[in-house]
Amino acid sequence: MAKIVAGVGCSHVPAIGAALDLGKTEDPYWQRVFSGFEHSKQWIKDLKPDVAIVVFNDHATAFSVDMIPTFALGCADEFPPADEGWGPRPVPVVRGHAEFASHIAQFVILDEFDLTVVNRMEVDHGLTVPLSLMFGKVDRWPCRVVPLAVNVVMFPPPTGRRCYALGQAIQKAVESYPEDLRVVIFGTGGLSHQISGPRAGLINSAWDKSFLDGLTNVEYMREAGAEGIEMVMWLIMRGALDDTFQETYRFYTVPASNTAVGHIILEPR
Ligand code: DHB
Ligand code: FE
Repeated sequence: MAKIVAGVGCSHVPAIGAALDLGKTEDPYWQRVFSGFEHSKQWIKDLKPDVAIVVFNDHATAFSVDMIPTFALGCADEFPPADEGWGPRPVPVVRGHAEFASHIAQFVILDEFDLTVVNRMEVDHGLTVPLSLMFGKVDRWPCRVVPLAVNVVMFPPPTGRRCYALGQAIQKAVESYPEDLRVVIFGTGGLSHQISGPRAGLINSAWDKSFLDGLTNVEYMREAGAEGIEMVMWLIMRGALDDTFQETYRFYTVPASNTAVGHIILEPR
């Protein structure tokens, strides 16, 4: 049977992708950020997952404001990197796992979570930057990826409670898949940041750290800025892990562009 062997939380700042792609990782500003992922790159290389379920958000790239699904599961065989205005990132095409993803869609929809099934999607920095941080610069991503896109760009986003419950349903779905797949689930986005409006530049480190401590539901917009709502995606990851999972690694640094970079690894005791 398939099994979730770890959870990873990770920010997705687009400037991190640009720093990697433009060879700026040794600049002191970026060195500080990338240093926090040295441990994690080795850790995930040793872990050798077969599949990563990556909970991420699309930033009006694959979906426009014309149409935004609340939860959309990528069931395609591949997901090309999107052009976000300066050409697609020079990273490999993301290889999906259509059969496993379709199983999750069927199980979770029968469990009354009304996912949208996506059979074609380009993926933006929300998905490719966490992959780059965890896997580094590679010719081919080392595992298959099932993307789960969550609407956090247009009001109303799903609640933290709903996200957590969806994570629990995903765990059951994974464990009812007959093939022995080792699955890691990524919760991505955040931490606190606001890109526009009077509070642009907001970073609330105290709140970020209490989120990392508790991974619990809170008042995202008030405490963490408009874009801090991205943190609900971490709760899907957390919901998919039972109480035997504990924190085995944490990294937190401020700033990276307009946000804090937060990163956590959760593994079974
Ligand atoms: C930034 C962070 C994001 O999550 C994003 O989607 C865009 C920009 C930033 O910090 O600049
Ligand atoms: Fe974002």
